[in-house]
Parts: sequence; structure tokens; C-alpha cells
Amino acid sequence: MSGQTESGTPFSDVYGPGDPEGFDPAVALGGPGAFPYTRGVHPGMYTSRPWTMRQYAGFGTAAESNARYLELIAHGTAGLSVAFDLPTQMGMDSDAALAAGEVGKVGVAIDTVDDMRVLFAGIDLAKVSTSMTINAPAAVLLLLYQLVAEENGIDPALLTGTIQNDVLKEYIARGTYIYPPQASLRLVGDTFAYCAQALPRWNTISISGYHMAEAGATPAQEIAFTLANGIAYVEAALAAGLEVDQFAPRLSFFFVSRTTVLEEVAKFRAARRIWAHVMRDRFGATNPRSQMLRFHTQTAGVQLTAQQPELNLVRVAVQAMAAVLGGTQSLHTNSFDEALALPTPKAARLALRTQQVLAYETDLTNTVDPFAGSYVVESLTDDVEAAALALMKAVEDRGGAVAGIEQGFQKGEIESSAYAIAQQIDDGERVVVGVNRFTLDEDEPYDLVRMDPALEAAQIARVSRIRAGRDDVRVRAALEQLKAAARGSANVLPPMKQALSLRATVGEVSDALRDVWGVYRPSEHF
Ligand code: 3HC
Repeated sequence: MSGQTESGTPFSDVYGPGDPEGFDPAVALGGPGAFPYTRGVHPGMYTSRPWTMRQYAGFGTAAESNARYLELIAHGTAGLSVAFDLPTQMGMDSDAALAAGEVGKVGVAIDTVDDMRVLFAGIDLAKVSTSMTINAPAAVLLLLYQLVAEENGIDPALLTGTIQNDVLKEYIARGTYIYPPQASLRLVGDTFAYCAQALPRWNTISISGYHMAEAGATPAQEIAFTLANGIAYVEAALAAGLEVDQFAPRLSFFFVSRTTVLEEVAKFRAARRIWAHVMRDRFGATNPRSQMLRFHTQTAGVQLTAQQPELNLVRVAVQAMAAVLGGTQSLHTNSFDEALALPTPKAARLALRTQQVLAYETDLTNTVDPFAGSYVVESLTDDVEAAALALMKAVEDRGGAVAGIEQGFQKGEIESSAYAIAQQIDDGERVVVGVNRFTLDEDEPYDLVRMDPALEAAQIARVSRIRAGRDDVRVRAALEQLKAAARGSANVLPPMKQALSLRATVGEVSDALRDVWGVYRPSEHF
């Protein structure tokens, strides 16, 4: 689509000297690793260290997922990224009535500390950094991770990793929320405070635009609504009495990377610049680490097609290249068969190999921020920044991110964009190779991976056995203490950890908080 960017700003046929207008590199860019971090958060970027290759994976029981992680490590991933099944993401046990048919499907099923122990068997938690895509029950899974590390004699202060813990975007785009927004923010604040003390190297949140983008957000909407959520988290933590430089260095972000390379590079650079200004100028953060926007990227799943699936290998390579040119810290490349089913082991390996080709065969890692000073990319960076700032102001005008969510604002904007894209594809204005142009009469058959239904029964039997074999009186007492903390203002994580160590389940701990905080019922906007 010529003439217009994905964000809806003008896209000129030619850029040249004088673009962007009034461009002053000292103000707009600074040096690499210097305010406003447009050129990246480290002076040397990939010339000193490549990004973390972090492939999102997990399915079935803890034992199956553990085998996949060991295989990924053997193939050269530098970080783990755990996918949990839906019951775990909703704070439910595998034997809950609502969990039926979902156990182990989109990720691994974790009910108790026993499962977590199996999940990380044979992996040195002092060496690996682990990301966990878990939101409403993020604190629970983090504490289970800490318990397993402690059992192995590892000092929690050494643990590195990330919990997604971004509940606000769950109300906007992803859907795995449990408690109402204010209670969720309280839990996020408690987690920030707990980690500042107990797990100082842990990234306490991954403020995510990825899912908004998958739901149809434009690049400008993606970063605007994500950074607006970031502001809401900072405000919540400040209101809970934390100092900004105490927790802000451990905030992290998560964005998509699309095939529109130039605009994506501009988006990543603009996001860094906006966040640096927000943190310094609005919140008075003085630690440079508080001002740096560090992010993970996943290639755009929504752009992959079930038709001629091998084309997805090409799309993923292009998307990954945009993420690298944009200075990502960590990257997941999608498997080419993901539009069809769970990735086959071969497709998962090819996805990782794509990153390895970029890191070790191309010259993209030989210099920092290769697009700096490019007429077009600097112009697009300014344009995406301006469009995002306007949207952030629209959120502010509605009373901030939480008020905007309650009014259905962000979700409504994203839905309008999604509708426009669907129409453009339908009428052929937007080309999708293999779908509305260059199609085949008949696609070749493809061998799909299917989940073994026996896995669910095995996991249900396992959680029943664990419940039968534990000291129930102590578990009940610990859960009562957790509820008491939730009713008052004490940090809920210490009593939660105590309950989990006695083998309280993810569902029981989440239910204790449900009893006190209630559950969120979406308004008519949802
Ligand atoms: N020079 C100097 N130091 C450098 C450097 C360089 N060039 N590059 C890295 N380093 C340092 C860093 O400063 C850091 O040290 P620190 O701990 O003292 O700060 C260390 O090396 C590790 O580097 P990073 O922090 O850059 O890399 P990590 O991989 O550890 O962390 C992150 C990256 C983005 C900050 C982190 O939050 C992360 O890993 N996120 C991953 C999130 C993720 O995987 N999400 C999956 C979501 S899937 C999903 O949502 C599912 C679905 O619904 C789609």
C-alpha cells in the first residue's frame, strides 16, 4: 500500500535532505546507549553481545515441556520462554470443571511446585534467563520458580528472567484477566516491591503491545496504548509508596515485528525515545536504566498464512530483520507452520536457525543502529512518535489507561483498525501473497502435530495425588493468611510463597484472592 504508512501517516515516494524537518541528531538521537536512547540502549549493541534468542514454547505436562527446553538449549537458544496452558493462565487447576479440554493445549499445565520442579529439571536456573508468559497469576508462578531455585541452593538474587504480569493489556486485547483492574494493579505493585527486595535482577513486567497488534492495532496504536499502560503501572507503584528508580529499571516491554520493515524500525526507535522522555520528564527518574526502554520482540503471527505455509519462512526472516534493525533485546521467531497447528520440531528449529543466520551470517550486527540518519527512517520515526503521542494524549484525556479501558476506548480503536485491514484484504487493496494474489488452486497436504488427549487425564491424576499427600491443615491455614493480607495492605507475596511451598495449588491460591478481590466482569464494550 503506497502513499500511507500502517499507522495512517503519509508515506512519501522520495525522502531527501531536509527530511525530517528540523532534524537535529544531538536532540533526536543522542549517541547509542545515551538519552533519549533512540539508537539503542547499549553503546555497543550487538557488536558487544547479540540479542537473546528466546523461543516461546511449552505444551502438555511439565515433563514434555522440559524435554523441549533441553532440546532448544542444545540447539543454541540463550533464554527460555515458557508458554502456560489456559487453565494455568486463568489461575485454575487442571481438574477444575472449566479446564476440561484445555489442559496442556496452548502451553504447559502447572498446578503445584512439584510440576515446576519437573519443568526445570536439568536446567541451571542460575545461568539461564527465563521468561514466563503469565499475567493474572504472575506472582504465583514467579514464587514457584523461586521455590525451585531455592531447593537447588540458588540465591534468588542471582535469578534473571521476566514475568509478563501485564494485566492491563489483558482487558484490552488478550483476555486472561481474573480480578478487577484496581486489585490487579495492587498485585502488580506488590510484585514490584517484592522483587526489588528479593529478586533484584528479575524483570517484573513485560508491558506488551504484541497482543494488541495481533488484534489489529496499527504500529502507532501498539506503542501508544502500551506506553500508556506503562504509565499506569508507574503511577500505581508510586501510589503504593515505591520510589521510581527502585522499580523502573526492571520494567520491560514486548512488541510485534511486521513485514513493513521501515516503519517497524521507526516504531522501535520512537518507542524508546518517548519512554525516555516520559520517565525523565514526567516521573523524574534519574537512573539511566529507568529511562531505557528494553524490549522483547515476536514476529507477527497474524501475518502468517495457512496457504503455501513455506512462504512464512520468508515473512519471518523479514520481520526478524526489522526487529534486529530496531535494536531488540530478545527475539522470538515464529515457526512457519504455526498458522496450521502446533509447530513441528523441524519448523521450530528452522525458526531458531533464522535468528542464527541473522546474527552470524549477515552484517547487521557489525554496527549499531544502521538506519540512523536515513532520510526515510528518521522521518518515519518522527511520524510514528507524533501519532503515538497524540493517541497517548487521547488516553490521558479519558482519565488514563485504566479509565480508557473501562470506557472501552483502546479496544474500540483497535477494532476499527482491524476492520479496516480486513476490508483492504477482502477488496485486494492490501496484497497477501498466496491468499488474495499469487494463489495456488490447491495447497499441498500438511502433516499436523496433534496433542495426545491422555496428557490431560495424567495431569488431573497427578494433582489429585499431590492434594492427597500434603498437610491439608497447614495449607488451609496458609491460604487464610494470604486472604488476610489481601484484605489489608500488607504485601501478599510472602504468605503466597508460604502456601505454595506447602503445595497449595495455583488454583487454590488464585481462589483465595478471588474470594477477597472478586472477579472482573467486562462492561458492554467487551
Ligand atoms: N552491552 C552491554 N551489556 C549488554 C548488552 C550490550 N550490548 N546487551 C545485553 N547486555 C546486558 C544487559 O544489560 C543485561 O544485564 P543486566 O541484567 O545487568 O541488566 C544482560 O546483558 C542481559 O541482556 P538483556 O537484559 O538485554 O536480555 P534479556 O534477554 O535478559 O532480557 C528483556 C530482555 C526484554 C529485558 C526481558 O524482559 C525479556 O527477556 N523478555 C522476554 C519476554 C518474552 O519472552 N515474552 C514472550 C511472550 S509470548 C506471548 O505473549 C504469547 C502470546 O500470547 C503471543
